[in-house]
Amino acid sequence: MSQNQFDKKSQAWSALFSEPMSDLVKRYTSSVFFDKRMWQADIAGSLAHAEMLSAQGIIGQDDYAAIQKGMAQITQEIESGQFEWKLDLEDVHLNIEARLTELVGIAGKRLHTGRSRNDQVATDVRLWLRSEIDAIAALLVELQRALVEVAERNVDVILPGFTHLQVAQPVSFGHHLLAYVEMFARDAERMADVRRRVNRLPLGSAALAGTSYPLDRERVARTLGMVDEQGNACVSQNSLDAVSDRDFAIEFSAAASLTMVHISRLSEELIIWMSQNFGFIKIADRFTTGSSIMPQKKNPDVPELARGKTGRVVGHLMGLITLMKGQPLAYNKDNQEDKEPLFDTVDTLKDTLRIFAEMIGGQYNAQTQRKEGGITVNAPAMQAAALKGYATATDLADYLVKKGVPFRDAHETVAHAVKAASESGRDLAELPLETLQGFHASIGNDVYGVLSLSGSMNARNVLGGTAPVQVRAQIARHHERLGMAA
Ligand code: ARG
Repeated sequence: MSQNQFDKKSQAWSALFSEPMSDLVKRYTSSVFFDKRMWQADIAGSLAHAEMLSAQGIIGQDDYAAIQKGMAQITQEIESGQFEWKLDLEDVHLNIEARLTELVGIAGKRLHTGRSRNDQVATDVRLWLRSEIDAIAALLVELQRALVEVAERNVDVILPGFTHLQVAQPVSFGHHLLAYVEMFARDAERMADVRRRVNRLPLGSAALAGTSYPLDRERVARTLGMVDEQGNACVSQNSLDAVSDRDFAIEFSAAASLTMVHISRLSEELIIWMSQNFGFIKIADRFTTGSSIMPQKKNPDVPELARGKTGRVVGHLMGLITLMKGQPLAYNKDNQEDKEPLFDTVDTLKDTLRIFAEMIGGQYNAQTQRKEGGITVNAPAMQAAALKGYATATDLADYLVKKGVPFRDAHETVAHAVKAASESGRDLAELPLETLQGFHASIGNDVYGVLSLSGSMNARNVLGGTAPVQVRAQIARHHERLGMAA
């Protein structure tokens, strides 16, 4: 075969070309082996486009019927694993279109009327991501519920709250867990916000400039569920922007990174709490591994890996944002590089959320009708740790302030008391009244009420504070918000 007689049918644009693509370039440029996972979105987008083309009289109703039939067959082939994905056909779009034409002939060739792969791929990624965002939103609810359930059982359990990882003030373990519920609630808000900008239709922008066919873009948007809260069709308003915009992917990736950062912070705490030096909690064995050499070890692999995978998700954000920075309008092949980071971000985030919801809250047992196997809390160890670090020193200062001592003087007085207590190896609450009165004459017997851990915790009865009554109010709010049984 001479150079200009190569099999031109295998390339969608071949008439102009005098030599075939080299194998290396084919592999380098093709995306089918990763973008095939968007096949459902690709078929849904094509069907909506074809339906509109026939409604507008651009293709025949018989063409649309043939395309529907062919797509049903392709769906069945892909689902059963019989579909043959071809590297030569570059991507998911050309693979499906070529098979459609094989199956239904000329109607298949009409499908691409008024469309380009540029607006097609932008539509597919958006449809695919939209459904993943919905799955992630549901998983964020599951994780929040798990945290609220454990918080609820541990409102009165006291652990040391830390600043600088130094014992600071006693807090409720329930309160501590609810801090993460706040983070994941904000993550859910961010996902819902990103979804609004994901859910807009680029199709109809064609290659870059729009199309000369009388397309009804709003009809396609409605068919694909690309509508706002008021039911208005969401359609891109500038064709150049529509085919090249990947802001939505970057925004999603940023929201996912922040969620992973929250997971990573929680992981760090779980790891610290599990260490023998703390012994605050245990996680179920199925989330840990042993050591091949040290028989006593139980390692918190899952939280450690989650902390590690956070780096990879943040890396994808950097990859995506860098991908865009040098691109002139409109579509450039660079954009094909948006998929792998996006796919891996979604996979990593979903797996991590799922595993954390179970590791923290446990698994539902249909027999006992309860969740089992979540984290186990060692309340005495937490309490003992809270007693160790003069966690109620601030309470003593506040006590003096209430007796009329200026706060700065009270602070200084308490520092002396803590120094003396630590020199004698005792906690503040263990110092006899005469000793305490040596630091300030206004100290009376009622001081022991504020020096106790629960006295300190109960005193922080401000909205958002750690007093159990406040924590219970927050739990009630979360129950309502997350649709949990009261
Ligand atoms: N596989 C391509 C992508 O992922 C589809 C769009 C290709 N368009 C083009 N003009 N080469 O971006």
